[in-house]
Amino acid sequence: MLPVPLILWMVALAHTVAGRACLRPPEILLAAVDVIKEEYHTGEEITYTCNPGYVPQSGQRRYTCPWSGKWPIVTLRCVRKICPYPGPLRNGIIHHTSFYYQDVVTFSCEPGYILQGPKTSQCLANGQWSGKLPECQPVICPPPPVSEFGALSYRNLNPGNITVFQDVVKFECLPPLALIGNEIATCLANGTWSELPECISVQCPYPEEIENGFINFALHRTYNYNDKVTYGCNPTYVLDGAVDSTCEKTGYWSKKPTCRAPCKIPVKRATVLYNEQRVKVQDHLQQGIQHAEMIWFFCKNKEQHCSYTVPAQCLDGNFQVPACFEDRGWFISIFKTDVADLTPC
Ligand SMILES: *[C@@H]1O[C@H](CO)[C@@H](O)[C@H](O)[C@H]1NC(C)=O
Ligand SMILES: *[C@@H]1O[C@H](CO)[C@@H](O)[C@H](O)[C@H]1NC(C)=O
Repeated sequence: MLPVPLILWMVALAHTVAGRACLRPPEILLAAVDVIKEEYHTGEEITYTCNPGYVPQSGQRRYTCPWSGKWPIVTLRCVRKICPYPGPLRNGIIHHTSFYYQDVVTFSCEPGYILQGPKTSQCLANGQWSGKLPECQPVICPPPPVSEFGALSYRNLNPGNITVFQDVVKFECLPPLALIGNEIATCLANGTWSELPECISVQCPYPEEIENGFINFALHRTYNYNDKVTYGCNPTYVLDGAVDSTCEKTGYWSKKPTCRAPCKIPVKRATVLYNEQRVKVQDHLQQGIQHAEMIWFFCKNKEQHCSYTVPAQCLDGNFQVPACFEDRGWFISIFKTDVADLTPC
């Protein structure tokens, strides 16, 4: 143990050697000192810390009490923390001005979606947003209002057993009823369905006859929506258009076909090309040709004494012989070579 006078002497010496004590350190904005006292010894260290929600931006945090007893100028600057972007919020909007500490963002959903979770969130001192991010859930539509045993039924075209905003269902009517209106309905933003179709009974009159043709298996009965009849043509007539006609929603039949007439070949004698064969009109084509068929006539190039072919087509009973063709009587044909036998030009 040291004697008491010696201890007193050492304390006194320490005071004189230590210089003057520092007083309370300067206060700065948005930060606090770790140890607050009335006096600090020379060499004693203090540390400034930014307040909760703030972070150092520039300057120095630690300071030492100097020999002079005067704290140096405190350079530390603290700024507000920034929280990360709180989104994304699918089908929703995050209303904000900035994402600094204590800022509040508000959430909303697009039409057809409902907010589930908090409406607002605040940027906290720890740099995180308060609460959980909400979700925008689609509006649910109740099943379309059709009666279980009615004629109108529907199928959900989207997966899942509930229908939500923008889902579509497809309607059908029990045969023979006709569906009038839109066969697709959509779940709207307000939880209702777009306009539903209706099933109505449609009857068509007895189908019309066609000229030079007939209706196959036409029974005398009533014709309903979607019933079909098929048509045929008399021999040598050609059917033009769809073979069948359908009873439509309007109560009318779809367009019926037409029977097109054959053509007589209005020349006495000629060798022609028909189905890529040389044939004599007077021998083989006295019955004429059918609608849409073609034959090629031989014409003569008088200067060069050679032959060329020109086509002609039967169009519903109309047939135009090419102007260059010369019809020769039986008598002349005995003396002159058939044009078809000249060398081709
Ligand atoms: C709908 O589907 C869910 C899961 O797929 C199932 O748990 C639920 O029972 C279904 N609801 C109906 C009414 O079928
Ligand atoms: C729902 O919205 C549709 C179209 O926007 C509108 O025609 C209908 O009247 C609304 N229904 C209700 C119940 O608000």
